[in-house]
Amino acid sequence: MLKIAIILGSTRPGRKGEAVAKWVYEIAQRRGDADYELVDIKDFNLPLLDEPMSPMMGQYTHQHTKDWSAKIASFDAYVFVTPEYNHAIPAALKNAIDFLYHEWVNKAAGFVGYGGAGGARAVEQLRLVMAEVQIATVRNQVLLSMFTDFENFSVFKPASHHEKSVNAMFDQVIAWGGALKTLREKRA
Ligand SMILES: Cc1cc2nc3c(=O)[nH]c(=O)nc-3n(C[C@H](O)[C@H](O)[C@H](O)COP(=O)(O)O)c2cc1C
Repeated sequence: MLKIAIILGSTRPGRKGEAVAKWVYEIAQRRGDADYELVDIKDFNLPLLDEPMSPMMGQYTHQHTKDWSAKIASFDAYVFVTPEYNHAIPAALKNAIDFLYHEWVNKAAGFVGYGGAGGARAVEQLRLVMAEVQIATVRNQVLLSMFTDFENFSVFKPASHHEKSVNAMFDQVIAWGGALKTLREKRA
């Protein structure tokens, strides 16, 4: 079975991301077709990138980097749950991605964005970042609106049709995640 991480990309107190990521995780659990895990970058207490060597060297000096590396290396694919901050992804998420390199390479990713415009601009930016760490990104994505999927811009109440989009995104993540796992195994 593929191992798929649902990565919660916001870290601030009171974040809406927690409810969104849990909803994605619950839908994933009902599928039963992969080993899904919710990964909260907040749990890793990553400071701003503080490793002296480029992550491409894989020579980590800090325990927080080693812990983050081991966690991310253990997955075949990722689903990033990201809000939009100033038309981009949160700095905490970019920082967490920047900490590593080889752990991401030849894996697949899908996206769940949320914000005033469904987090679309953040997801588009994240796709560019993914290309640099050699993650293949699937087309299907989920965009949740602060206007229609959060009651009073606050309580997460997703429109029912989004569940279909989440599953369509997971279908592609599993297909590509499996193909890239085969590629990695052939190269190993
Ligand atoms: C620093 C900051 C910048 C934001 N910039 C945008 C933005 O550019 N576009 C947008 O649609 N929403 C923006 N928002 C609204 C967020 O998408 C919304 O508050 C969302 O709940 C943030 O996710 P979080 O609660 O998980 O942190 C911004 C929020 C914050 C805190």
